[in-house]
Amino acid sequence: MRINNTAPKGLEDVIIGSSSLTLIDGRAGRLSYRGYDISDLAENATFEETAYLLLYGNLPNVQELRQLKKNLSDEREIPTQLVELLKGFPNDASAMDILRTSISALSIYDPDLHDYSPDAMLRRAIRILSKMTTMIAGYERIRNGAEVIPPRADLDHASNFLYMMRGQVPEPVVARIYDKCLIIHADHELNASTFAARVTASTLSDVYSAVTSAIGALKGPLHGGANEGVMEMLEEIKVPENAEAYLKKVFSEKKRVMGFGHRVYKTIDPRATILKSLSKELATKNGGEWFEISYKLEEIMRAEKNLSPNVDFYAASVYHMLGIPTYLFTPIFAASRVTGWTAHILEQYSDNRLIRPRADYLGHPPRKYIPLTQRK
Ligand code: COA
Repeated sequence: MRINNTAPKGLEDVIIGSSSLTLIDGRAGRLSYRGYDISDLAENATFEETAYLLLYGNLPNVQELRQLKKNLSDEREIPTQLVELLKGFPNDASAMDILRTSISALSIYDPDLHDYSPDAMLRRAIRILSKMTTMIAGYERIRNGAEVIPPRADLDHASNFLYMMRGQVPEPVVARIYDKCLIIHADHELNASTFAARVTASTLSDVYSAVTSAIGALKGPLHGGANEGVMEMLEEIKVPENAEAYLKKVFSEKKRVMGFGHRVYKTIDPRATILKSLSKELATKNGGEWFEISYKLEEIMRAEKNLSPNVDFYAASVYHMLGIPTYLFTPIFAASRVTGWTAHILEQYSDNRLIRPRADYLGHPPRKYIPLTQRK
């Protein structure tokens, strides 16, 4: 029997359910979390306030924010078994494979994994959000043959991550730029990884399994993996004068340019606008031509292909100028997006129905089994 409500390939523009988390207006190029415009949040809120907003539904008051910060810092330590696990991985493994495996392993050490009450779910979301940062920084230290640096309870989420990675408390201006990156990557409606998380949650599997599914989906170069591709491209181009020839070659080979185009935005991605100004700010502070090369590419892509940058484009030069190695770009995207993943997972649990679509079968018509010896 053929079912006559086939969705377009890639589920483009198909509404598969409702959500109170994030609104994208792809035509106007606007994005808001629970009613607050992303540029308002990036300008005025901290990542912790944004995380509270996504997980609890409203911006926190002073007391609520203090409590969330305490909960996050209380959860920063990771089990020693996980540090040992990180030490055992080969140095050339993909950082996203390591993150996916480590988050999956973390579930084994969760103190209340089988408590499915809403409070326990929220605790677990905060636990994963906090520990993921420690795991990424720890992995970076181990990969470089350095001692793992324990977290500091007195630092905010962004500063603590940069501190654990480098052993130095970052300048406030640098920490605030990273904090803004965390805010603007925190959620994005039903992108592929969030959808993957919701599908897994809809089977009533646990939060770790849902987050692990999401990390797997984020890894791909058509999703979160694009930011690493952008940096590789910038490094290959080297100076703004080479941008045009580089793109000509890519166009002639009919390849995609990482960091451009979007399924939902028909104009510039508002996150790219914010990241562009952060990239410019860092370029003014640090020197170098990463912003100039990026800007040149943006101009040519708009003129030649009518394509605008997406979130991954200017994120690459920003992360690079923050001193983050390219192989960590997608893991730190995950470290922010986990806020949205867990908020969506909680929303899915709160009004669940198994997500189980159908496929239009285009295979062979019915046929009879042929014994092995009679097959040609
Ligand atoms: N470089 C070159 N051409 C691109 C392009 C890119 N980055 N993104 C889209 N296009 C072109 C496609 O070739 C296609 O052209 P065609 O109709 O002549 O074949 C057209 O634009 C539509 O692309 P399509 O793949 O149908 O759009 P989509 O909605 O399925 O894909 C993306 C969206 C994000 C996967 C796509 O834009 C892409 O591959 N971008 C690069 C990867 C990236 O930056 N991902 C991060 C997303 S936040």
